[in-house]
Amino acid sequence: MLEMNLEIVVKVVIVLGAPGSGKGTQCRELSRSTDLPVVSSGEILRSNIRDKTELGTIAVRSVAEGKLVGDGVVCQAIRDRVRLHDCRAGFILDGFPRTLSQAEFLESIWLSISPREQLAVAVVSLELEDETLLRRLRGRRICPMCSTTYNIETNPPQKINLCDHDESFLEVREDDQGAVSKRRVSDHRRTIAQIKEFYQSRYGLTEVNGSRSIKDVQASLQAVVTGGSVVQRL
Ligand code: AP5
Ligand code: MG
Repeated sequence: MLEMNLEIVVKVVIVLGAPGSGKGTQCRELSRSTDLPVVSSGEILRSNIRDKTELGTIAVRSVAEGKLVGDGVVCQAIRDRVRLHDCRAGFILDGFPRTLSQAEFLESIWLSISPREQLAVAVVSLELEDETLLRRLRGRRICPMCSTTYNIETNPPQKINLCDHDESFLEVREDDQGAVSKRRVSDHRRTIAQIKEFYQSRYGLTEVNGSRSIKDVQASLQAVVTGGSVVQRL
């Protein structure tokens, strides 16, 4: 009987930000402290490309060229991911949504949450200048084994080009190179305003200065997630 009165809160954190703004870095940290899994559209696409799945085959060219993959396939992949058991208490979104149609699709996912549950949505936008973003993308190195992300300028590994955790050789992401990284940043600038407006009007949105240290940015994120989220009864 007691169980009938318990309210279950499904917590969703949406982290918006340009390529190189630190979404992946910050979402991983946040996941450790909140125990919520990170749902990263970019990671899902890259692992499907590596595994040569049907989704990977569809996405490979767009990802290599720094263009958005079609809404239909990305939405389907996100829906399949958030339906998994580990997302039942909520999740942290990295890189999704990126278009209005993806944002609207996400709203439709809320409808599948049971009436006994409440939804708490926190939306954060990491803000940085283009020059800093491009420098970060150029310096990014990734461990192919555990996906830990480093930066040769701002966040280097202890041993040159080797992962601190498993000593794998670090790799450069294919889409972090010259013209492709510039396109990703400028495309983001063109489309982000409408996504921010969408969330500002629904749940409120907090802009966070992403050019500070990883620790300071994380502290701001934590403050928003614990204090500033909107709880909505469905
Ligand atoms: P995705 O993987 O989402 O890439 P992105 O949004 O372009 O963002 P990045 O992963 O490049 O940067 P980040 O913000 O995660 O920064 P990070 O923490 O690594 O998408 C890739 C592609 O997939 C897209 O181009 C598209 O083709 C496709 N795609 C994905 N989602 C899609 C969607 N929803 N719809 C359609 N297509 C989609 O940090 C960057 C660097 O900076 C690192 O080296 C890091 O160590 C360093 N760093 C981080 N924080 C700090 C700090 N505070 N100080 C100093 N250095 C820092
Ligand atoms: Mg990322």
